[in-house]
Amino acid sequence: MNAFAGGNFIMSTPRHYFITTALPYANGVFHVGHITEYIQADIFVRHTRMQLNENDTLYFVGADDVHGAAIMVKAESEGTTPKALVAKIAATRPKCLNGFLISFDHWHSTDSPENVALSQDVYRRLKANGLIDRKTIEQFYDPVKNMFLPDRFIKGECPRCHAQDQYGDACEQCSAVYSPTELIHPRSTLSGATPVLKQSEHFFFRLSDPQCIDFLREWTQKDRLQEEVVNKINEWLGDQDGKSAIIDWDISRDAPYFGIEIPDAPGKYFYVWLDAPIGYLASLKACLAKDNIALEDYLSRDHLNQIHFIGKDIIYFHTLFWPAMMRFAGSPYHVPDKICVHGFITFSGEKMSKSRGTGINPERYLDLNLNPEWLRYYLAAKLNDKIEDIDFNPDDFVARVNSDLIGKFVNIGSRAAPFIKKYFANALSDRFDHVDIVGKVKSEADTLAAQFNRRQFSAAVRKIMELADAVNTYWDQEAPWALAKRFDALTDEERAHLHTVCSATLECFRLLTLYLKPILPRLAADVERFLNIAPLKAKDAAACLPARHLIRDYEHLMARIDPKQIDRLLEPPADPAPQKKQNPSDAVPALPPITIEDFAKMDLRVGKIVDAVAVEGSDKLIRLTVDLNEDQPRTIFAGIKKAFKPEDLIGRLTPVVANLAPRKMKFGVSEGMVLAASEPEGGIYLFTPDQGAKPGMKIK
Ligand code: MSP
Ligand code: ZN
Repeated sequence: MNAFAGGNFIMSTPRHYFITTALPYANGVFHVGHITEYIQADIFVRHTRMQLNENDTLYFVGADDVHGAAIMVKAESEGTTPKALVAKIAATRPKCLNGFLISFDHWHSTDSPENVALSQDVYRRLKANGLIDRKTIEQFYDPVKNMFLPDRFIKGECPRCHAQDQYGDACEQCSAVYSPTELIHPRSTLSGATPVLKQSEHFFFRLSDPQCIDFLREWTQKDRLQEEVVNKINEWLGDQDGKSAIIDWDISRDAPYFGIEIPDAPGKYFYVWLDAPIGYLASLKACLAKDNIALEDYLSRDHLNQIHFIGKDIIYFHTLFWPAMMRFAGSPYHVPDKICVHGFITFSGEKMSKSRGTGINPERYLDLNLNPEWLRYYLAAKLNDKIEDIDFNPDDFVARVNSDLIGKFVNIGSRAAPFIKKYFANALSDRFDHVDIVGKVKSEADTLAAQFNRRQFSAAVRKIMELADAVNTYWDQEAPWALAKRFDALTDEERAHLHTVCSATLECFRLLTLYLKPILPRLAADVERFLNIAPLKAKDAAACLPARHLIRDYEHLMARIDPKQIDRLLEPPADPAPQKKQNPSDAVPALPPITIEDFAKMDLRVGKIVDAVAVEGSDKLIRLTVDLNEDQPRTIFAGIKKAFKPEDLIGRLTPVVANLAPRKMKFGVSEGMVLAASEPEGGIYLFTPDQGAKPGMKIK
């Protein structure tokens, strides 16, 4: 059986996937490391979604991690409150998440009622199970700021090598690790004051308890972790008979702290790392609520796969604290089934540095209109299931996208399509599934599915490009252009052969598109439209385009990268001096300026397309029924038939000019206008608002 066709799972036992990425600190906008993690997880998620059976479910969620001293201090330095600071950052999230086609089902915040309730519940259960201790400890306190100081807010002279200006926990010069009280001449980085030692009662999670250690030893040995990760954890846990190096975990912080209050302990808050992973559950809960499913119900289901994607810097939290918390909080809480750890992304072999302006800024990437699928493809070609770092190299980026993605894959469609159009009126031949090259491309479906499952994306991409090479070789050997040149003189047999070669090539294109779909969802949707087929699912690898199937006219699918675009991406951040934007198309002259009053005459609204029907007798028009949150939906005729299947439009949001005078047309009255971008020939592009937009909302 074909693994792309659902593996050997039986229909009657539904599988459920709960998949997360690490929750980014909400004290800054996304950097490319975050986006890399999301792209990795998103490829896995989209691959898995393509394999789901009817009763299977998958929820892919994220959230902002908003609590902790760092955010509190940053808010203060900006003269704002933590809540206002994180709200400002949260508002920047949709642009990048949508821009890079990350298909989260929900994005939440750890500062949410769900997270408060869940964190307090987990804590109460751990306490009831005897795993919470109280101990009085002595800690540095800033007498000016009136707060206890986290290690990184204390600096001083290294007690070993006497380097100046070292952090409270470790020396960057000699790598010594120590406690802040050992620093010579310590000072608070917040106020400059010399900190004083002060006692305070703290709460500890008894991770060193033998039942925790036993559980972790057992949990770690299963098929949940990469080998490198298991080795690391085994070092921490020590061997079976020996003593482990695990110590109890300090989970409380004293006021003032931006966090969640500890029940029955006035002035005490959970340390941010306690409530942060519980934020995964808070986000899932909010997401499930949209489907009327209770979190407890979902977590208790059989065949639940709880999978977390994280970077190598936060292994400890996710492989020790987090599973132990879930295990000893007890049912319905669920112990993670898989932790997928990735390395860091570096830039031309160096650490990305915001301050030095090296690396790529995801927002700038989008602002420059670089295609997000270029980056998705490039990262996929490098990502694997190891925790080694991956490097972004600009020349390599341009080369891989231009010569592999476009030169090999996209090329296949653009070579075959014109022949099918010109000589066969866009209809495929009677039979082409028997052609060797089709069989060859199809035969790799299982291998590729397994590679995607194991997150061996680079191996999968390599294999797909080998197949693309083989298809191009087939095309070159058959040289259909030579037959076509003397088309009128061809025998019936020769014509049939030409037809078969082109059809088989397009069938290969369909299969390769299916394989690449988790990486290139937008391109895949364009190919589906071009091939005039339903959205590709895993099981479609076992099928074939039908005989005499009608395709649509080929439209340009993807542009090559112009290396100049990369130069612009890598330029140090531009001066604020206003730059005159280049006209996107020289053929479209700019109009004279209008005043804001002119603009305000336009009533632009978000509309939801609730129905769409091709207008019979018109080759351009689709009749749309558009909900603007009025008493009645409107009828709007749009000249977009050649670019869209009506059924693909249903459910989409689009900007609408709502106060355009009704216009009587041959086929009825149009009560508004849908906005789209277009090229003189071919492409028509609708606009989709960020998530959260609702029908009737004013656009201004
Ligand atoms: N807030 C914590 C995670 C809490 S999860 C319950 C945190 N936030 S973070 O913003 O610092 O990092 C978020 C994720 O981005 C982590 O998985 C981290 O490893 C990843 N990355 C940060 N820099 C990275 C690169 N340069 N490359 C790849 N991923 C990197 O940690
Ligand atoms: Zn030192």
